Amino acid sequence: MYVHLQSLSLSFFAKNPTGVLMARITNDVNILQASISNVIISFFKDLVTIAGLVVVLFYQDWKLACIAFLIMPWVIIPIQRFGKKSRRFSTRGQEKVGKIATLLHEAITGCRIVKAFGMEDYEAQRFSEENFRLFRIRLKRLRIRAISSPLMELIGGIAGAAVVFYGGYSVINGTSTPGTFFSFVTALLLLYEPVRNLSTSYQDIQEGLAGAVRVFQVLDSVPEIQDKEGALTLPPVQGAVSLRSVSFGYDQHLVLHDIGLEVRPGEIIAIVGTTGAGKTTLVNLIPRFYDVTAGAIVIDGVDIRDVTLRSLRSQIALVSQQTILFNDTVRSNIAYGNTAPPEDKIIEAARAAHATDFIGELPEGYDTIIGEAGVKLSGGQRQRMAIARALFKNAPILILDEATSSLDSKSEEEVQLALWKTS
Ligand SMILES: Nc1ncnc2c1ncn2[C@@H]1O[C@H](COP(=O)(O)OP(=O)(O)OP(=O)(O)O)[C@@H](O)[C@H]1O
Ligand SMILES: [Mg+2]
Repeated sequence: MYVHLQSLSLSFFAKNPTGVLMARITNDVNILQASISNVIISFFKDLVTIAGLVVVLFYQDWKLACIAFLIMPWVIIPIQRFGKKSRRFSTRGQEKVGKIATLLHEAITGCRIVKAFGMEDYEAQRFSEENFRLFRIRLKRLRIRAISSPLMELIGGIAGAAVVFYGGYSVINGTSTPGTFFSFVTALLLLYEPVRNLSTSYQDIQEGLAGAVRVFQVLDSVPEIQDKEGALTLPPVQGAVSLRSVSFGYDQHLVLHDIGLEVRPGEIIAIVGTTGAGKTTLVNLIPRFYDVTAGAIVIDGVDIRDVTLRSLRSQIALVSQQTILFNDTVRSNIAYGNTAPPEDKIIEAARAAHATDFIGELPEGYDTIIGEAGVKLSGGQRQRMAIARALFKNAPILILDEATSSLDSKSEEEVQLALWKTS
């Protein structure tokens, strides 16, 4: 599931909150797992036991067995109804768990703003409301479980009474023997336990199915952007990027209208525009985070939709507008994905990004763990790390999305100078 999640496109992540996806991987998978490992075995064991005992009952006294089985619909109908309800409550409960996980994720990662705006009580209130809704759903589910057991006992009792009444009557009458009667009653009593278990197992299976539906919703979602059949490997490029009347919109509403742009190898192009004009959107199209709505993007004469994503993206280094770093060492962050990175290359990249000064001051230099999303670094330092990471990749195409916005003007100038040199 995780592997599949990694393969999905950005549009999928834009639609599904982090918390919901985390809940699916942890919670729904767990429910499915519990259902498979605990229930299925006992469910089939019970089914086989029941089948065997039913044969015994009919063999001993078919008339009596028919009386006992008049009660059968009264057993099956509630089992089915409870199962259906369990499934519904399980789905609703899981939706709530996803919502709660989303709230948690937002409030924990956004704790600075929560505190700055004094919204702790508000967040606590929001959380507890959602929590209470989950509690009520769980309560309903437990109610069904609690009712189902005594109901099965009641029905079993009625069946038992009917059998004792009619069976006893036949023995006294002389139409049946005490031996037959007692073996019949014993089989009936033995039947009672597995039938009662069946009801709970059936509910568990229904809950497992509800989990499975949610797990497969993720597994069955197709990556919007993927290699087309027979996609070629993009050979190492010179870096001639051309946009041919490109239009693009996230939905019906177009953000980019008929854009034409030619970038020659070695050329540096700056795209300037007001906020929300579509600069980030434009550069996101080059590594195919999204596909163009109309027109085409061509690199070295090849339409990027004709080549594999892997070969395309391996030739693009990107510094995104929002700096994204991992909770790992400075070294691993700069050489992201490279298991045996050459030390001199890392230092060279750090130098070009003007990061060597502050890295030298870190307690363990290149081995310092920078915290989740780089919390232990300043905004500008984070941005330099991201630039160093992009420079380390040394790809023919370098995309900087406002990559120097958090740097002071002097460092910005120096970083830009370094970029000129490397280009
Ligand atoms: N994932 C998305 N889904 C829907 N609309 C989006 C999405 N991302 C951006 N937009 C919209 O697309 C438009 C262009 O956004 P974009 O991020 O490209 O702007 P920008 O030029 O980079 O702005 P800024 O200078 O503020 O970074 C905006 O109006 C925004 O609302
Ligand atoms: Mg932007």
